[in-house]
Amino acid sequence: MYTEHTILSLRSHIQQWRRAGEYIALVPTMGNLHAGHLALVEQARKLADRVVVTVFVNPAQFGAGEDFLSYPRTLEQDTHLLMQSEVDLMFVPEVEELYPGGVNSGTYVDVPDLSETLCGVSRPGHFRGVATVVTKLFNCVQPDIALFGEKDYQQLLVIRKMTAELCLPIEIIAVPTVREADGLALSSRNAYLTDEQRRLAPLLYQALQLCRKQILSGERNYGALVSQVASDLRSAGFEPDYIEVRRADNLAEPTIDTQKLVILVAARLGQTRLIDNINFSL
Ligand code: PAJ
Repeated sequence: MYTEHTILSLRSHIQQWRRAGEYIALVPTMGNLHAGHLALVEQARKLADRVVVTVFVNPAQFGAGEDFLSYPRTLEQDTHLLMQSEVDLMFVPEVEELYPGGVNSGTYVDVPDLSETLCGVSRPGHFRGVATVVTKLFNCVQPDIALFGEKDYQQLLVIRKMTAELCLPIEIIAVPTVREADGLALSSRNAYLTDEQRRLAPLLYQALQLCRKQILSGERNYGALVSQVASDLRSAGFEPDYIEVRRADNLAEPTIDTQKLVILVAARLGQTRLIDNINFSL
């Protein structure tokens, strides 16, 4: 596996692969890799000749007071895992390499509307940071396909919309959420949980499953359903940010006959903000 830190050295490999007619997959990450990330890599390996994984903790997507500085950085362990997964190239740029115009003063990409709902409300500027860095990574690697986890459902839709609206010739592939045995979605931020919080954390997925069950049994008052579940989560020790039933394709409010739904939740357990979602058809 090659490890490259500059766009120039990355491109020399990409050009060689392109000349050989090879099909290239990109898996963008912020590192601290776990089985969720590796599921994306494994899927990429099946679909493409070459797999590029980027490891970059993107300052533009963290708000003031968020965990940019303390975000876990485990490059040695990540390198080992990616070598084992037969990745061709790991791209690990410095901030200056990707943000020559400055993190907050350079050109950016904004995906309106979709970026302003749900997580966009409590994390203003977050999806602009994501859309901007993913555009840069797309331009650096120029992959045929790029893989993203359903775990970050709103992020996945923001990237799909951005790719379509900027006419980028890249296919976006969604990979289902990888979970712990007790249902908790794998996340780098789970490491912040105390033992007691870790014990409570699976309740989030159980809440989503309960909502889905009620909807599948005919419940159509989504507002009443989610406010009951939010209040149950509060009693259990969570501080819910939102829990919402939305259209799975664009996160708009569903109508009574919307067939494809997603239930999304974000909640704080102590200092740690957890997100999860479940999508299904009626
Ligand atoms: P990060 O949180 O490192 O996640 C990288 C990719 O792994 C994302 O597509 C995310 O949805 C996916 N992922 C994380 N946990 C997962 C799980 N339990 N199951 C399946 N997939 C999972 O998301 C980001 O980084 C950044 O915002 C990024 C897209 C790299 C832009 O900076």
